[in-house]
Amino acid sequence: MEVESKPVFMGSLYGKKPGKHIPEITEVSQGTPMGELLRRYWQPVALAKEATTTPKLIQVFGEELILFRDKSGRPGLVHPRCAHRGTSLIYGKVEERGIRCCYHGWLFDVEGKCVEQPCEPNNGEHRSKVRQPWYPVQDAYDLVFAYMGPPEKMPILPRVEALEGINADQKILGEQKAFASGGPAIADCNWLQYFENALDTFHVSVLHSNFSGLQFIPEMAVMPNVEWSLTKLGVKATQKRVLPDGRLFLRVTEALAPNVRSVPDAFGKNGPVDRIEWTIPVDDTHFTTFTAGVVHQDATVIRERRVLHDGKLWEDMTEEEHRAFPDDREAQVGQGPITWHTDEHLVTSDVGLVMFRRLLQRQLAVVAAGNDPLGVWRNKEEAVIQLEAGNFFDAQ
Ligand code: FES
Ligand SMILES: [Fe+2]
Repeated sequence: MEVESKPVFMGSLYGKKPGKHIPEITEVSQGTPMGELLRRYWQPVALAKEATTTPKLIQVFGEELILFRDKSGRPGLVHPRCAHRGTSLIYGKVEERGIRCCYHGWLFDVEGKCVEQPCEPNNGEHRSKVRQPWYPVQDAYDLVFAYMGPPEKMPILPRVEALEGINADQKILGEQKAFASGGPAIADCNWLQYFENALDTFHVSVLHSNFSGLQFIPEMAVMPNVEWSLTKLGVKATQKRVLPDGRLFLRVTEALAPNVRSVPDAFGKNGPVDRIEWTIPVDDTHFTTFTAGVVHQDATVIRERRVLHDGKLWEDMTEEEHRAFPDDREAQVGQGPITWHTDEHLVTSDVGLVMFRRLLQRQLAVVAAGNDPLGVWRNKEEAVIQLEAGNFFDAQ
């Protein structure tokens, strides 16, 4: 008897379940593995100029915080709910000694100490029992850095070698962006899918060189030969391009655990990098970045925004133009709020980001075991970030 053969459609979408992300390396709230790893470092949370005598609400790692600078110049970062009865300190007034709550006038200094309670006898004789929840902050490299982790684990804020020893006509400038090409400073996707793009070197020859036209210098369009390797603090991608005129163009990009990137200029600036970038999760499905870079005294930006199509910046393009000429934002936000790791098909060109994900997993284990992860220093002499990234034209 003949058996009727049933057609089989391999890979049919019918019955497909949604994929899942890897929560350990993507989710960032307090108590999550990645959230705890990120909280072991000093992290930039604002531009220095944003910490002012007007309180500012910011969000970092899923936490809402009030940033201010008291009138003696010290930055402060506190929980928005006043320790008295919970009024938001966004309505507070900043004074010489701290921030004063609008409701009953309690005054908190930059370490959350309650220094005045005007409605209480003797201006609050028991006020030393009250502390507004706070995080330590400090100014560095034109940015405000906060330490949001366990107090007993607080490390030293490291120096960045690439930003030291600048010339008299130069300065360090801080910058906040989501994507180098412009657009809103907070992007609508998980931090990791942006972050690991630093090691995704092959997309340069496709997205930025062909698919959406030539967005960088023509040298970047040449398909590279890439080697990924572990460094002291992370993973680097060494890209070798043999240019049509026979020169060797060497480009090194780096990702440092857990959220520091160093991607050299894409427009031909030769030599080692003179900037560094932190990817900061705003929450699980939004991120921003802070960059500190060496610029000329007169400069107001580190990187000029990139013209993407027809002389237009990202924000000037229509929806149709974004579809026709997508950039990093479209590619990465297009992966969804948090990409489905279970549905990925990782191949040889993804080796760098696989190495970095494994490195992150190892750091999570280190923290879970109660130890210091990579790049946490307690000795001032050792606390220095040295970068290897750069563009090296005419490399031998
Ligand atoms: S709620 Fe802030 S002082 Fe009363
Ligand atoms: Fe890109």
